[in-house]
Amino acid sequence: MPREIITLQAGQCGNQIGQEFWSLLCAEHGISPDGTLEDFATEGPDRKDVFFYQADDEHYIPRALLLDLEPRVISNILTSPYANLYNPENILQSKDGGGAGNNWAAGYAQAEKIHEEIIEMIDREADGSDSLEGFMMMHSIAGGTGSGLGSNLLETLNDRYPKKLIQTYSVFPNSQETSDVVVQPYNSMLSLKRLTLNADSVVVLDNAALNRIAADTFHIQNPNFAQTNQLVSTVMSASTTTLRYPGYMNNDLVGIVASLIPTPRCHYLMTSYTPFTGEQVDNAKSVRKTTVLDVMRRLLQPKNKMVSTNPSKKSCYISILNIIQGDCDPTDVHKSLMRVRERRLAQFIPWGPASIQVALSKKSPYVQTAHRVSGLMLANHTSIGSFFKRTCDQYDRLRKRNAFLEQYRREPMFADGLEEFDSSREVVQELISEYEACESPDYINWGSQ
Ligand code: GTP
Repeated sequence: MPREIITLQAGQCGNQIGQEFWSLLCAEHGISPDGTLEDFATEGPDRKDVFFYQADDEHYIPRALLLDLEPRVISNILTSPYANLYNPENILQSKDGGGAGNNWAAGYAQAEKIHEEIIEMIDREADGSDSLEGFMMMHSIAGGTGSGLGSNLLETLNDRYPKKLIQTYSVFPNSQETSDVVVQPYNSMLSLKRLTLNADSVVVLDNAALNRIAADTFHIQNPNFAQTNQLVSTVMSASTTTLRYPGYMNNDLVGIVASLIPTPRCHYLMTSYTPFTGEQVDNAKSVRKTTVLDVMRRLLQPKNKMVSTNPSKKSCYISILNIIQGDCDPTDVHKSLMRVRERRLAQFIPWGPASIQVALSKKSPYVQTAHRVSGLMLANHTSIGSFFKRTCDQYDRLRKRNAFLEQYRREPMFADGLEEFDSSREVVQELISEYEACESPDYINWGSQ
């Protein structure tokens, strides 16, 4: 039975990443940009039905909702070779088209106005699935639409589909570049509350880390979004390979998430991927030697992590899942795991099992790769708390000056006061404290005193 996943892409970032994701998925499943099966693609062992369904004429349609409050990005998609891939009923571009002006509250309020339309789309897609596993949302948390409309979507999904898994790929702003969006700490804080309370799993990507990795991969100083988005889509594709090419284990998203997230709030995941080569990303560096051990070592290196944290001496992994693709046999995996342990390359929590889980996954037969082995790491690591702390510090600085609050007060949620900001700040503070508590052996008693 298929375990379908519905994807929702919100705002500029969400839709641009979504476009890269769908073009990669099409290539991996032998589906042409207009949804028809390529001549070379036979009915293989892959599960196209997790992310696609078939129309009456058998062409494939993504289970995707494209949502934006300004028309530009979706219009670009609709004039690309992928124009006819998507179900037009699942595309929502705001009629007045002004976007959310980098204001979370405006994005949230506009989402409330089009609530019925969005629900109709979600329900129709859900009813079209045999055994819906959950939802995957892509967005940025710094602007207005991906953050505000995205937050509203998370609350709606959680309320309407409480038993379905909600996973997000959330792009955090580049904290080293304050000029990006001045009110990004406000938007991030308000979004983080919903990501904490309404999502089951959040894959954290930050533009500072993505830019650094893209600069290294493409040998350029200032990578553009098209380039960083290729990195993100590669990670998204790799993290769903075990669902799309199922084996004995890890073939449902709930299972993967459950093995990585032992306690509900600490559900923020970091990723690394290696090697990025020319098959997935244009003009990438040439291939290096890849053995399972090389790949596992590189996955643990801080420079390959797609989020910039400041680990302390006490920081540790809560869990790790490595998805290894390519030519490797289980004894290689076993030996590599032993070596990683001997060398103490990964330090784990004192209150749970200290082990790296490994899933061996098939590769698409239609996308040729020059390297033998590639790997994705999904990891739950306590240093993510330092990342949220930085967001809090930036937020506190802005809030102390009461800077730029007028635009928020104009929206219904803040008309009577700014309590929502304070409540979000508290939720994030609690999250940081819980990640800190995870580093101590008596975490099990945390919250019960
Ligand atoms: P409004 O423009 O206010 O309607 O909201 P939005 O959600 O459409 O805004 P956007 O997605 O542009 O969010 C702004 C943040 O996202 C900034 O931090 C940008 O650097 C980042 N961003 C925008 N597009 C992309 C993208 O394609 N890839 C990546 N990695 N980041 C992006």
